[in-house]
Amino acid sequence: MKKTVLVIDDEKNIRNALRLVLEGEGYTFLEADSAEKGIDILTSKSAIDVVLLDLKLGGMSGMEALKIIQKRVFRETRPVIIVISGQATTSEAMETVKNGAFDFLEKPLDRSRILVTVNNAFEHRRLLDQRDNLASQLSDKYEMIGTSPAILELFRQIEKIAPTKGRVLITGESGTGKELVARAIHKNSTLHDKPLIKVNCAAIPPELIESELFGHEKGAFTGALNRKIGLFELADGGTIFLDEIGDMSLNAQAKVLRVLQSGEVQRVGGEQLLYVDVRVIAATNRDLQLMVKDGTFREDLFFRLSVIPLHLPPLRERPEDIPQLVDGFVKSFCKEYGFKTKSIDQKAMEAMQSYNWPGNIRELKNQVERMVILSSDNIGVKDLPFNLNHIVTVDFDIAKFSHMSLKEFKSEMEKSFILMKLEECDWNITRAADILGLERTNLHKKLKSYNINKAQE
Ligand SMILES: Nc1ncnc2c1ncn2[C@@H]1O[C@H](COP(=O)(O)OP(=O)(O)OP(=O)(O)O)[C@@H](O)[C@H]1O
Ligand SMILES: [Mg+2]
Repeated sequence: MKKTVLVIDDEKNIRNALRLVLEGEGYTFLEADSAEKGIDILTSKSAIDVVLLDLKLGGMSGMEALKIIQKRVFRETRPVIIVISGQATTSEAMETVKNGAFDFLEKPLDRSRILVTVNNAFEHRRLLDQRDNLASQLSDKYEMIGTSPAILELFRQIEKIAPTKGRVLITGESGTGKELVARAIHKNSTLHDKPLIKVNCAAIPPELIESELFGHEKGAFTGALNRKIGLFELADGGTIFLDEIGDMSLNAQAKVLRVLQSGEVQRVGGEQLLYVDVRVIAATNRDLQLMVKDGTFREDLFFRLSVIPLHLPPLRERPEDIPQLVDGFVKSFCKEYGFKTKSIDQKAMEAMQSYNWPGNIRELKNQVERMVILSSDNIGVKDLPFNLNHIVTVDFDIAKFSHMSLKEFKSEMEKSFILMKLEECDWNITRAADILGLERTNLHKKLKSYNINKAQE
């Protein structure tokens, strides 16, 4: 496949010079004379690998375009961006490199420098693709979505941990994927064809936990009508997943410690000692170290459990995974509900990316499911739940308004704000007026004076 370069520069002779050099080397050449047009091309075509972007453009500046390209187009394609700068803008160009541009070229442009830089950019792109491929293989293998450095590190750790029989303690806030990770570890271990027994330690009343975990003999206590095999015994040869271990009583902790130390279990009311060989994976959203200090969690048990500690970061610390998670969940829910695949628009996605997701991936997954069910067609801002739709971002760059008077600035803001609310209400004027705290007639007046009508959108 031919390699494609897009040049965004408002000077025709620069574009022509670059065309000559790059086409001469066999690259496919695309051009745009403004950032806006360049972004359109990037949005409509996916196979653009490298972008040469002039910093000084009429209209939207190169710096601004860089930010937008990285945020928006980043989702499906990953163009590597080289910034073109005049001498006056060299320091600005260096700044863009800090902001994620790959490199910069100074005017006047020099043929060999252009070729070396563009070549390097393609090599960089190839390495990124390779990394993504590896990530996507692991992502399939573990049925977990994500390519952020944090998730890649997690994949690496699972790769190392899974084949061993080492005990793992998984920590992380609620909804971060602890159970998913525990299952991935078991599935990719040598014990994968042996049982994985999950115990929700928080759900079992303290007085029953012993008999649940270790079983009981018939008649061991009132109500023990039959012999019961405990969960540790059931898991023999496989894995036991002690979920919410931080919620276990001190009494039960002592019993679990004994199994971990000696492999011995004793049914309640039983004489016999049974030996089990089980891999233990535990998880909690509590801070066990703090609990150890408080005396609510046994230190010796803590050390026995956390041979390999694995911490899952909250979603707000890896927002770069959000678009992929959303796209992945949209796809799978559409399939599950028998809809044709819906897509989600950029504004809605940006809002989802700006939200802080206290309930982490579980919350995100639930929201997506809800939106997939409720949206009539593709998913847009109007389908966002209330806690999300108020953070829809307005593209805001204060420098753009520097030439305005305060009055002009205020009306510009008012106009954008009204437009945003109208979008959210699906152009239902009565509802928009309500949300804006305006009389309906008053809103109509404003729409007229700002010349706002739906066709404009
Ligand atoms: N990386 C991921 N990719 C795709 N789905 C994920 C990912 N992480 C978590 N999920 C999904 O999010 C939901 C919550 O995950 P899980 O139940 O493993 O979280 P948890 O940390 O055990 O939460 P809790 O502490 O509340 O029990 C599940 O439906 C799971 O499939
Ligand atoms: Mg869980």
